[in-house]
Amino acid sequence: MGLRYIGSKARVAASIVDTVGAPGESRGVFVDAFCGTGSVAAAAAAAGWGIRLNDSLRSAAVTATAALIASEQAPFDRLGGYATAVAALNAQPGITGFITREYSPMSQEVAGVERRYFTVENARRIDAARAQIRTWHDEGELTEFEHTLLLADLLAATNKVANTAGTYGCFLRHWTSTAERPMRVSTRKLAARAVDLQVTIGDVFDVPYRTQDVAYFDPPYTKRQYAAYYHILETVAAGDEPQVSGVTGLRPWKHLASEFSYRSRALEALDRLVGQCGAGRVLLSYSNQGHVAREDLEAVLAAHGQVVVHQLGAIGRYRPNRAAAAHSSDVDEFLFDVLKPAAAAQAAA
Ligand SMILES: C[S@@+](CC[C@H](N)C(=O)[O-])C[C@H]1O[C@@H](n2cnc3c(N)ncnc32)[C@H](O)[C@@H]1O
Repeated sequence: MGLRYIGSKARVAASIVDTVGAPGESRGVFVDAFCGTGSVAAAAAAAGWGIRLNDSLRSAAVTATAALIASEQAPFDRLGGYATAVAALNAQPGITGFITREYSPMSQEVAGVERRYFTVENARRIDAARAQIRTWHDEGELTEFEHTLLLADLLAATNKVANTAGTYGCFLRHWTSTAERPMRVSTRKLAARAVDLQVTIGDVFDVPYRTQDVAYFDPPYTKRQYAAYYHILETVAAGDEPQVSGVTGLRPWKHLASEFSYRSRALEALDRLVGQCGAGRVLLSYSNQGHVAREDLEAVLAAHGQVVVHQLGAIGRYRPNRAAAAHSSDVDEFLFDVLKPAAAAQAAA
């Protein structure tokens, strides 16, 4: 997928899905309720599961959905095929839109601060591609899957030329060589087969479950708030023009602040989340570097069902910058596997 994402489980997704096993006769779905890039959902889909995705960020839901789209679901009949549509996006002459005004050196004129997230040329390409996707969408040229796929391809291309150390929490003072390369949207290899897929964008507490579903929870475990760290991707995905502020041009994000990112609230929120989840089996990823200690989490989860803890081992976690990488030891990932009483009773019968 190419997107460097804090807390991505790309490297342990296969182990997580091995723990879950194949879907049974029950027709339950695998619910990736904090989907991020959707790496775990993609592994579950490959194992035959139907999928429900959720994230509070639109940019994450778009990226995770695109990873599951099969070629038969994105024929781009009205635009002459996928490759032709992407070539047409790349052929658009640049325009000065919101991204250029707020996130390239041109921001000096409107905001009084030079936000060096993108070169002017690349910001104009992003604005042009986003406007073209909107026009196609408004004129009915795209199916929903095709629209999502192009947005995800644009997010990936945007991310490649961002002048950052990996997140949008700040921009770099000097231009990196990748930021100076012309932005180009690329086609991707689409999934081999279509999966049964539902997608929601919203708070994890609003996701519905049935007993036969497996819920997978991968909450934030540090104070880093994704809505602030990935604010520009969110704006490209939404295609809106919010009132932004500060040196980094942050869009309003406080309404998306995650409870799991506050040390004082994380354990209570995890307890409530697993307690009210209607799925018979709940898998929770957590790290030994998170706000909550393993023993405390295990004690709280035991009140909701039978708990088995799998250690997924030290994973080479993506760190947002070199200093962070140098100063932290490797992360141990735990997978808490909770069998709720109703599901345990069924398994025993
Ligand atoms: C650790 S990341 C998930 C990484 C993902 N498993 C992957 O492999 O890319 C946590 C995700 O939870 C989302 N999130 C945080 N709080 C949330 C909430 N209350 N409801 C829904 N999503 C939330 C964040 O936007 C972020 O994408």
